[in-house]
Amino acid sequence: MGFVIEIRGLSKVYPTPERPQGLKVLDDIAFGVEEGEFLTVVGPSGCGKTTLLEIMAGLRKPTSGGIYLDGRMITDPDPAIGIVFQEESTFPWLTVEENIGFGLRMKGVGKDERERQVQEVIDLVELPGFEKRYPFELSGGMRQRVSLARTIIMHPRVILMDEPFGALDEQTRLTLGLEILRIAERTQSTIALITHSINEAVLLSDRIVVLTRRPGRVKSVIPSKLAKPRSVDTLSDALFAKLVGQIWKDLREEGYRERDED
Ligand SMILES: Nc1ncnc2c1ncn2[C@@H]1O[C@H](COP(=O)(O)OP(=O)(O)OP(=O)(O)O)[C@@H](O)[C@H]1O
Ligand SMILES: [Mg+2]
Repeated sequence: MGFVIEIRGLSKVYPTPERPQGLKVLDDIAFGVEEGEFLTVVGPSGCGKTTLLEIMAGLRKPTSGGIYLDGRMITDPDPAIGIVFQEESTFPWLTVEENIGFGLRMKGVGKDERERQVQEVIDLVELPGFEKRYPFELSGGMRQRVSLARTIIMHPRVILMDEPFGALDEQTRLTLGLEILRIAERTQSTIALITHSINEAVLLSDRIVVLTRRPGRVKSVIPSKLAKPRSVDTLSDALFAKLVGQIWKDLREEGYRERDED
């Protein structure tokens, strides 16, 4: 089966004033995300995860290799690739419904149709009653649900997320993660998530890509056969502990922190 989004032979070197050869951040990365799959990328701090996601989103150019969406090479941002960032990306001067309807408005979708679709997505992310609120009136977790709603309403082929729960406490992040998983299943979305939380990766994913320390290479690809639907009970599944242990072992071999000698 073809991948929705595929990374082929991807390397990235940043030019730096200190090193004439530049700083190699990603080295020959290759993997693909299947239709309807929830794939997570984990790796040591500084191994190039954000760089990888920015390249996947067409926001940054690779040094070599490329990104393919349904077999077509991506070189620029594409409406078929949705992104949810760690930093809140809601517009503070717009209400929840205006934030969520923004992309449709830009596309010239009429008011009635827009309102219909916005309401549908508000129900999906469980924010009914908050339509007229402004982002500052919401909790961090709710604001991230607005960001997700804004992405989902555009029906992207794939949704990329970089530490979308990074600013949240552990309990909120796991709960929100499970909610996003449920939404992804209901909308049959394809998701690539970047996180440094191994628990989160195992709880939510169908497959986990573990990267080496910088320059990031694919260290291992770990499929998760954990039963679905996932829930907080999954955390006490014996297989959950086994998968977490396996990823820890891979990361420990790498040394979890970025080193400076290279
Ligand atoms: N625009 C840039 N120019 C030069 N170097 C950069 C640039 N962006 C990132 N880097 C360097 O590239 C390396 C990888 O950065 P990146 O942010 O992709 O890693 P990361 O895995 O997301 O890290 P973290 O886990 O801390 O979020 C780091 O050493 C960083 O300092
Ligand atoms: Mg990062």
